[in-house]
Amino acid sequence: MSVALVITFFVLLFPASAADSFDPNSLSPIANIFAPRSAPAQSVFEISMLVLWICVGIFVIVGGLLLYTIIRFRRRRGDDGREPPQVYGSNQIELAWTVIPLLIVFVLVLVTARTIGEVQNAVLPSDALRVTIVGHQWWWEIRYPSLGIVTANELHVPVSGPEKHMPTILKLESADVVHSFWVPQLAGKTDVIPNRNNTMWIEPWQSGTYLGQCAEYCGTQHARMLLRVVVHSQEEFARWVTGQRQPVVNDPHVHTGRDLFQSTACMNCHTIGETVASGTFGPDLSHLMSRATLAAGAAANTPENLRAWVRNPQQLKPGNLMPDMKLSEEELDQLVAYLLTLR
Ligand code: CUA
Repeated sequence: MSVALVITFFVLLFPASAADSFDPNSLSPIANIFAPRSAPAQSVFEISMLVLWICVGIFVIVGGLLLYTIIRFRRRRGDDGREPPQVYGSNQIELAWTVIPLLIVFVLVLVTARTIGEVQNAVLPSDALRVTIVGHQWWWEIRYPSLGIVTANELHVPVSGPEKHMPTILKLESADVVHSFWVPQLAGKTDVIPNRNNTMWIEPWQSGTYLGQCAEYCGTQHARMLLRVVVHSQEEFARWVTGQRQPVVNDPHVHTGRDLFQSTACMNCHTIGETVASGTFGPDLSHLMSRATLAAGAAANTPENLRAWVRNPQQLKPGNLMPDMKLSEEELDQLVAYLLTLR
């Protein structure tokens, strides 16, 4: 039995390493907590492994002794049926099972305190990229104050290298309830609390897309509050920044859709740059089509899904705060045609 448990443990511990063959188009790839790709996540991983190996040791010793006892002292034919001698108050045994766990706990406390200190007191370069992340029910607002960029559900950051450290400092705020920022391959969890600014930082050393998930139950659609972190090379990141800072596309062919957007309640919740739409309750749509997903990772951002989403948001993500605008099919076509130009 112990052997089977140990094997199960190792299978769970080292899943087929899918971390590097991540498909960014897949909506729910499993984020592997055993494959850190950023500085704080690496520290968390190291301490997790220490704790796991200590627990494996305890498990093997306790399980082994139990197994030995069960086999060695099992009932045999010819036993006289009397109770074996009962041992009470052995100083050696009592001392051993008090002192050894105490030492183990002491080691774990010290190592944990050191790791927390390393992450929280890290000295980060003053020119590090600063991003403000605001948790909403149920999506992430992402602001780059120094770059003048506002987006949603996708955090784009540059990759860090040995020649130039490029950490990103995250200021975490909440617009409503408690959420928790968690991108397992990049950093530990940090709670996102109303009326309080928490900070976390990441320093990814490998470009790619990393999936994050709100890690604190925050209401009906907590499970569909996904976050994508896209780590770019320096040049790619500069290109992304340039793209996001471009003026919003103003295509005269879709003016009916734009007028419709501006004459319905859409504009009260959403901002689209250089138009009268300046709501901040929902995601900024200025560059909507540059994003990979809709509704915080609930669906891929395709024209069909976008239409289905606007037609009835409650079908794709029940309980979310975007109302069904009850548009006619023709109005839907016009509105979606307009949204599709927002690259
Ligand atoms: Cu936000 Cu759970």
